[in-house]
Amino acid sequence: MLDAQQIALRFLSTRLQVHPDVVRYLQEQDNPDLIERIIAQVPPDTLVVTSRHIPGLTSRRDGVRFLTDPSFEIVSGAAGTSGSVNGTSDYLHYFRDRYQRLGGMIRSRTSGMPIEGLLRSNRYRQEECTIIGMVAEVKSTANGHRIAELEDPTGAIAVLFRKDKPIFSDAERLVHDEVIGVKGKLSHDGKLFFAEQMFRPDIRIDNTPYKSDSPGKAVLISDIHVGSNTFLEEQWNRFADWLQDEPAHYLLIAGDLVDGVGIYPGQEQELTIRNIHEQYDRLGEMLSDLPSRMRIIISPGNHDVVRGAEPQPVIPKPFSDKFPKNCTLVENPALVNLQGVRVLMYHGRSIDDMIGLIPGASYEKSGQMMEEMLTRRHLAPAYGRKTPIAAGKQDRMIIDPVPEILHTGHVHIRGITMYRGVLGINAGTWQSQTSFQKQMNVHPTPALAVTVDLQTLQPETVSFM
Ligand SMILES: [Fe+2]
Repeated sequence: MLDAQQIALRFLSTRLQVHPDVVRYLQEQDNPDLIERIIAQVPPDTLVVTSRHIPGLTSRRDGVRFLTDPSFEIVSGAAGTSGSVNGTSDYLHYFRDRYQRLGGMIRSRTSGMPIEGLLRSNRYRQEECTIIGMVAEVKSTANGHRIAELEDPTGAIAVLFRKDKPIFSDAERLVHDEVIGVKGKLSHDGKLFFAEQMFRPDIRIDNTPYKSDSPGKAVLISDIHVGSNTFLEEQWNRFADWLQDEPAHYLLIAGDLVDGVGIYPGQEQELTIRNIHEQYDRLGEMLSDLPSRMRIIISPGNHDVVRGAEPQPVIPKPFSDKFPKNCTLVENPALVNLQGVRVLMYHGRSIDDMIGLIPGASYEKSGQMMEEMLTRRHLAPAYGRKTPIAAGKQDRMIIDPVPEILHTGHVHIRGITMYRGVLGINAGTWQSQTSFQKQMNVHPTPALAVTVDLQTLQPETVSFM
């Protein structure tokens, strides 16, 4: 990523000031040539370079939307941005970043006080106040209440959520490492905080999604699992035929492109293609048969050849050699912009963790699982369980900005939801029930594609069974 100060200095060297939004945009684009192009294009009497000076820009209600290619842009998760992880210092940065940014979203609606300040004097005993912290631990008491250890950079306090209070349904769904705000009172002895109200970072209730002003259609799928003996080739071919006549501009694939090798014990017996290179080559052939007018956007999943820790890097070179030219490889997660409509692609491994932590959660309810992510503004809130997270300096799993569409996969069961203006889509899979799923009593919904009209944001499910 380009350095913010250097960007500003480059503009200053030509007597131009630059708006922070533009600096942020240039950092995201990570392309020094773009700076030069902008400098060359601004009118001679310009003092401050603002979003107005960016070529191909469109504006939207909640501020400015930048586009260099008016139809497609990778906002985050471009190749090479996942970075490496170097030990405990990044781990500290990672959690600080998570707390600051998610806490900031809560702070924009309610002000909080530092936990240390609350505990230091007895001035606040029995006086209502709000604290904002990360859930270090959460459990049920013998009487069925919930108790959470809430931490901020200054201190920690035990917070009690009584089962007879209206907030209990929110508290029941607390998971460790999510960031929340709590309004309530400190006990007489200063050891316990009684919660009355709880705030999650959440999507604003008046969130209005952006709709494209020109015609466009996206097709969303995931979990193809090429190479598995349960991959539904005939149904895939039907899908490929259908795409020939379908005015689709974009095909988005949210991970598990191939079945992989050595992913689970005994997998060899369930593979028709046992070589990982050949699995990707076969996928490349399949994608080459699709209309070349379509842009195909591909992110990895836990069956793919890249590291399991999220953010997962793009499918690397030797494996993607046979992919056609109209493919764009992105990381997992990635935020892409289709004609102004932002789609957050995330494979969805964290759903495994949420199912173990959130009462009522299940694989059948993939729509609800996406809502759980959106209300926490985080794709994988519970750290250190089945979802490995590469703790970089920034928490890339935070949902910011708010997308128009959240596209997940992983569970192999279709789910569509609308949560505060955000459309959540999980299109299922291209694999019939595996022996493992049979054991686990999981019933997949295979061979479905979900299309979205970018002008109306209306989803439609098409079956190829
Ligand atoms: Fe999968």
